[in-house]
Parts: sequence; structure tokens; C-alpha cells
Amino acid sequence: MINNSCHKASKRNIGLMELQKLGISDLDIQKLIDNGIFTINSLAKASKKELYSIKGLNDRKAEKILSLAKKRVPVGFSTLKNYLKTKKQQFHISTLNKTIDNLLEGGIESSSVTEIFGESKTGKTQFCHILCVSAMVDNYSFVQTKKVIYIDTEGNFRPERLIEISEKFKINFDFLINNVFYARAFNTEHQFQLLVAAASITAFSNVALIIVDSCTALLRTEYVGRGELFLRQTLLGKFLRNIQRLGEECNIAILLTNQVVTSNLDGMTFSAASNLKPIGGHIMAHYTNTRIWLKKRTSQYNVMKVISSSKLSEKEVKFIIQNTGLRVVSE
Ligand SMILES: Nc1ncnc2c1ncn2[C@@H]1O[C@H](COP(=O)(O)OP(=O)(O)O)[C@@H](O)[C@H]1O
Ligand SMILES: [Mg+2]
Repeated sequence: MINNSCHKASKRNIGLMELQKLGISDLDIQKLIDNGIFTINSLAKASKKELYSIKGLNDRKAEKILSLAKKRVPVGFSTLKNYLKTKKQQFHISTLNKTIDNLLEGGIESSSVTEIFGESKTGKTQFCHILCVSAMVDNYSFVQTKKVIYIDTEGNFRPERLIEISEKFKINFDFLINNVFYARAFNTEHQFQLLVAAASITAFSNVALIIVDSCTALLRTEYVGRGELFLRQTLLGKFLRNIQRLGEECNIAILLTNQVVTSNLDGMTFSAASNLKPIGGHIMAHYTNTRIWLKKRTSQYNVMKVISSSKLSEKEVKFIIQNTGLRVVSE
């Protein structure tokens, strides 16, 4: 369920291909895409340092490409009026539960990164499935069908759960399965490649939501211990920057799940009573706009808490997982 009627047919023009006409080769354009620069807007906002770091793109070429992009896309001040006009395009995807939507002021926000973290079996993957269905609810009333991209790194995606949740909303089975793009990521490198593939889908389809469940699992298993922490954090930062940029440029809601650890590897805990903390430390905190913590409380219910957001206050609700989604409970 998309909570904003402004989400019309997408005007996404990835735009990098325009550079071809200006004398930039396909190979160099592909290098930009492979490095997470998917649109001409992102290119105009990239730093010289970032372009210099792209393998095979020499400094002169990098400067030429950047100056071409800056001529096409103004990156200076705009009036608050223009800024608000852009903000108006943003929408929220409902969690299919009114109380939780109220907690999040409408649901998961577009052009924004929402992270949901918690221990195993607290409902992170269930939350992703619910949002996946929610993006399809009321879809027939829109000009162009909305799509969801689901990157699964843990192998916990269950289409039968999507079908179960969607039955309540009478979503046609064929409609559902035609509008969800699913991929299983097998290693970190593949996770990056899938993001590039996701970006090319957004160029041609009206993608409303990109889910990565989980965004840190592969990094955590491939880069182990303090010795590899720096590399792990660098790669995580790169992935988050690229997906955040894609979300902002194309007005897509980004939903990432994250695991928690009990050790003190990368600094940050959230409560004096618990030494649990989300993986990714300050890098994760820096790139996520809203952080939601799912906590095990009793055998009867779990707790969902907004712990960090630039516009939401810290609040929590108790919930249980049901066939058709989440239900908020008072005790
Ligand atoms: N159809 C369902 N009805 C009720 N609860 C379910 C259903 N499917 C899964 N669950 C519950 O969801 C929990 C697992 O949630 P999950 O989202 O996979 O956890 P996480 O991703 O945080 O590890 C389990 O406790 C399981 O019993
Ligand atoms: Mg899971």
C-alpha cells in the first residue's frame, strides 16, 4: 500500500547513455555503472576523488566526464520551494498495520534507507515479505505497475509467504509473481553485481522498493575478525553509498536488514542492559536514515522500536507475527 498518490509513472532516465553522444565510450560508461554511479545525477554529485579511484579511468577522462555531467545537472542551491516540490514526490510503503505505520509516520519512506536489525527470528525477513506485498496493494489504480526488487543473501525468501500475506488483499497471483524481481546473492562480489543489475531494472521499470535481506550477512562471513574489519567496513560503506544514491536518485524506498552481534568488534551498543549491537558500526549508522530494532521480549511477543531517525521520535510497539502480517498487541 503506497501512502502518497504522487507516486505516478516513473520519469526515470538513468541518463548516463547521454554521455555517449558527448564522446564518452560505452566501456567508460560501464565502468561508472560498475562503481555504483547509475545516473547522470549521481555522476554530477560524485567527487573527483571517487572518479579517480575507478580502475581504468584516467584522471583527464574522469575530469572530462565530471564536467560534462555538471553542465547537464545543476548541483548548487535551489529555492526551498523547489526543494519542497521534490520532497512532495516522496511516498511511504505501508507495513499493513496502522499502529506500526503511525510509529513510522506512514511506513517505509522512499528516497531513504530504512534498516531493520535484530537477533535471529525476531521477524526481519517477515517484515521484508510484508513490505514486498504492500507495494502491490492498490496497484491497479496507478498508471504504471510498481515493482519490488528483492536481494536475498541468506536464502530465507519464501514466495509462499508472499502469497499467504497477499491473499488478504486479493492480489492476483500472476500479478504478484510478475512484479517481484528476486535474486539470491551468493557472495559479496555477487551482491554488488546484483545492485548494478537492480539499477538497470530501475531504468526501465517503476521500482518502488529494493530489499536487501540481509545486507551484512555475506560481508560478515567473508571478512572475519579484526584483521579484515577495515576491508569489510570499506566494502559495506561502498555498498551503502551506492544503494542510498540509487534510492535518492530514483525515489525508491530502500529496506535493509541487519544482524546483531554481542562482541565489541566495531564499537556501538544501544542499551546499557544489553551488549547487542547491529553489525556495521558507524558506517551503517551513517548511511541509514531510519533504524528499527526488533527485540525478543517474551515467548508471546516481540518489540519493534524506532531507535534512530532524523524525523521520528523514539517509540516502540509490541507485536506478534501472524499469517497475514504483523499484529500489534497491548500486552
Ligand atoms: N506464517 C507464519 N505465521 C506466523 N508466524 C510465522 C509465520 N512464518 C514465520 N513465522 C515466524 O516468524 C519468525 C521468523 O521470523 P524471521 O523474519 O524469519 O526472523 P529473522 O529474519 O529476524 O531471523 C519465526 O518465529 C516464525 O515462527
Ligand atoms: Mg531473516
